[in-house]
Amino acid sequence: MALYIISNRLPLKVSKPENDFVYERSEGGLATGLGSLKDFEEKNWIGWPGIFVDEDQDKDQIRAGLLSENFFPVFLSEAQISDYYEGYSNTVIWPLCHYFYTYIQYESRFWESYQEVNRLFCEEAVKLIKPDDRVWIQDYQLMLLPAMLREKIEGISIGYFHHIPFPSYELFRVLPERAEILKGLLGADLIGFHTHDYMRHFISAAYRVLGLDCNLDEINVGERMVHVDAFPMGINYELHYNAILDENVQQMANKFRENFGSHKLALSVDRLDYSKGILHRLKGFALFLENHPEYRGEISLVMVIVPSRDQVDMYADLKTKIDEMIGSLNGLYSTLNWSPVYYFYRGFPFGELMALYHIANFAFVTPLRDGMNLVAKEYVAVKRDNPGVLVLSEMAGAAAELKEALIINPNDIDEIEGAFLDALTMPEDEKVRRMGKMQKTVSKQTVNKWARDFVKELVAIEKKNQSLQGK
Ligand code: G6P
Repeated sequence: MALYIISNRLPLKVSKPENDFVYERSEGGLATGLGSLKDFEEKNWIGWPGIFVDEDQDKDQIRAGLLSENFFPVFLSEAQISDYYEGYSNTVIWPLCHYFYTYIQYESRFWESYQEVNRLFCEEAVKLIKPDDRVWIQDYQLMLLPAMLREKIEGISIGYFHHIPFPSYELFRVLPERAEILKGLLGADLIGFHTHDYMRHFISAAYRVLGLDCNLDEINVGERMVHVDAFPMGINYELHYNAILDENVQQMANKFRENFGSHKLALSVDRLDYSKGILHRLKGFALFLENHPEYRGEISLVMVIVPSRDQVDMYADLKTKIDEMIGSLNGLYSTLNWSPVYYFYRGFPFGELMALYHIANFAFVTPLRDGMNLVAKEYVAVKRDNPGVLVLSEMAGAAAELKEALIINPNDIDEIEGAFLDALTMPEDEKVRRMGKMQKTVSKQTVNKWARDFVKELVAIEKKNQSLQGK
């Protein structure tokens, strides 16, 4: 029996810098969690390989190159990436689910393409999947796929996990395709969210949009019950906790520390995204420096911003605003040996990132909305014998678990300003106490546990359904 993960992207990127295809593995959390699922004879992954190819010969070559990893590509055209991925997924669903309602740009061709690509994923999956296999679909790019697959493969066990927030009904109802999206999702046997709030919002949408019979964690779709549950995603705790034991990471940390100088460092690490609250954070820091001249030269904000979705207008505009704001802040306050903001517009390799976490006195994770936010958990894990302060937005899913962080409302610039002062003045024993508690939480709810819990529940539902049907 095999498990099939289906996600928009495969956990790797294929490119062709010269004559040959190059395969670059990206070890995200999901890939790690999957590694811990030991009970399957086979674990396969279906998704987009991140490259445009037209020729069948090239497609066959990529297919063959991915086979040894049990990866199966779904090839998408540039038009499909533009309309399904940048369009419906990232200028309709993403802003909607992150409460950026006014950022939605709606074109009917986006919805056409979203349906077409979900169908394409379904066709590819149907070629591979057998009725007793299990399928675990990931995220908002593929919300129609559960029902499409169920229609094609009778009795198949399907799980779906939503990695981003699910908005309240009042917001969800604005979506023209609200009913189609819900019906698509309800093709799954188990629908998972990071928090109970998202789960509640989803159930309320199913009740109010489709008029279905619901209880606290089940939706009656007539012939089946769909189960809904909260599975807070975690990180590979051991990997992060032990990162600083690596000599190279230690050396990097020492080098970074020396280069940054002796002042305190507040770190933030985000994909470039308006949901991350980057401008609000910068405003809060600017206000702090304005109102607390005594701390000028004493603290820098190290901002790692990983390029993302730069073909989408809102992202490109945000990049311009961030550049301008950092430019003017640094122009205003920089001295010969101190800059208020160190800005890196690129991703960091794992080791360097661990070194940065290690030396950062504070981490500012202040998204305006975030499904979970694993940066907060990674920072906690790395700060083993060297506790720092985690400032965390109450709008991040992680705030439901990391209660000992300095929790702030990221819309309130004064609160962000205040958090800089609170972090700088927190007594050492309080830092140790708060970090210790959060480390305990993060070490228990790992990504492996997340994956195992989800699949265990999916299998239990399957058994229950079989016994109800007298199989
Ligand atoms: C979020 C989403 C993922 C997505 C990731 C990176 O975490 O929940 O589904 O893969 O962002 O975004 P991208 O658009 O580059 O795949």
